[in-house]
Amino acid sequence: MIDERVYIFDTTLRDGEQSPGASLNPDQKLAIAYQLARLGVDVIEAGFPLSSPGDFEAVQRIARQVQGPMITALARAAKPDIDAVWQSVQDAERKQIHMVLSVSDIHIERKLRSTRADVLRRGIEAVAYARSLCDQVEYSPEDAGRADADYLYETLEEVIDAGATVVNIPDTTGYTLPHEFGGLIASIKANVRNIDRAMISVHCHNDLGLSTANSVAAVLNGARRVECTINGIGERAGNASLEEVVMILRTRERSLGLKTGVDTGRLAEVSAMVSRQTGIPVQPNKAIVGGNAFAHASGIHQDGVLKDKSNYEIMRPEDVGMGESRIVLSPRSGRHAFRFRLAELGYHLPDGAFVRAWEQFLELADRKKDILDRDLADIVHAVDIESLEVPA
Ligand code: KIV
Ligand code: ZN
Repeated sequence: MIDERVYIFDTTLRDGEQSPGASLNPDQKLAIAYQLARLGVDVIEAGFPLSSPGDFEAVQRIARQVQGPMITALARAAKPDIDAVWQSVQDAERKQIHMVLSVSDIHIERKLRSTRADVLRRGIEAVAYARSLCDQVEYSPEDAGRADADYLYETLEEVIDAGATVVNIPDTTGYTLPHEFGGLIASIKANVRNIDRAMISVHCHNDLGLSTANSVAAVLNGARRVECTINGIGERAGNASLEEVVMILRTRERSLGLKTGVDTGRLAEVSAMVSRQTGIPVQPNKAIVGGNAFAHASGIHQDGVLKDKSNYEIMRPEDVGMGESRIVLSPRSGRHAFRFRLAELGYHLPDGAFVRAWEQFLELADRKKDILDRDLADIVHAVDIESLEVPA
């Protein structure tokens, strides 16, 4: 089976930066964009240029200086927004105008206070205008996850006819379930007459914790571009996490037949950088890049991992740049892990001394949260200094 390529559209610098408290200055954005390019993402959404002069400057510097990925930025479907995007991205080697306009009745009636017909007309005009400036135009019908299917199909058909080269299907509110969202992509392929003239992209939010699952369901049904962010940051509960999407496709490549161009060995480094720059910590149990993602604490797991890592690890930590798996000593640790850690520190105890050290360890581990190497040294010295065989 020949793997098909899934394109990674990184929106850390646009939707990610919309996380409360995450705002970045142009220097920070440029530094992150360089790292995203080294990581091998296909598209960088660098910002929302009309929102502030600082964001315009950030997008323009990224477009002028960062080589490799296509550079895009967000516009509403209005001429001043589109002009600002074009002026900021036009110097990039490869550029795209991305525009958003609502498609769900909830948004049309309660946010835009408009009608389907009027919104459709605005969308078509905006796409045609954007296409007169730029060869690549992406149209995002906002809140597609809650929209009327027939109106969505009609909108997609019309904007493709008007020149959209990518149609992005956003689950803006994170409402859909994976089978529904996958089904929506399949139904778009089946019902939009000219869909073969545009790439299908998806943009899933994480309000119900389903953004990654929904993105994967979408690519299984024909989407070929996924919009995501480093560490899953973004508006409210965030976006699909880039590292999760990429590692799902890589780890399950044989069953999915899909691949990305991301250099996965850089994921941990970029995750840490984005966390530092935005001030948003990565939760320890975060898949792929969390501090505990490759740490084993219970005796049963530690014993299994020490015998063969594949017992409990489906990815190698080095494949995502996370260094080595860790054996963490805790009251739930087993003797195997305890002996292993002592040996790593150079302590090889004879059986009698080992049993005494083990008992002291259990007693200490019940009282103390973190067992440090210094604690292990104290235990070893206390049990029987005479019986140590400390290698030179
Ligand atoms: O969530 C959303 O709908 C968006 C669009 C701009 C794609 O961020
Ligand atoms: Zn979004």
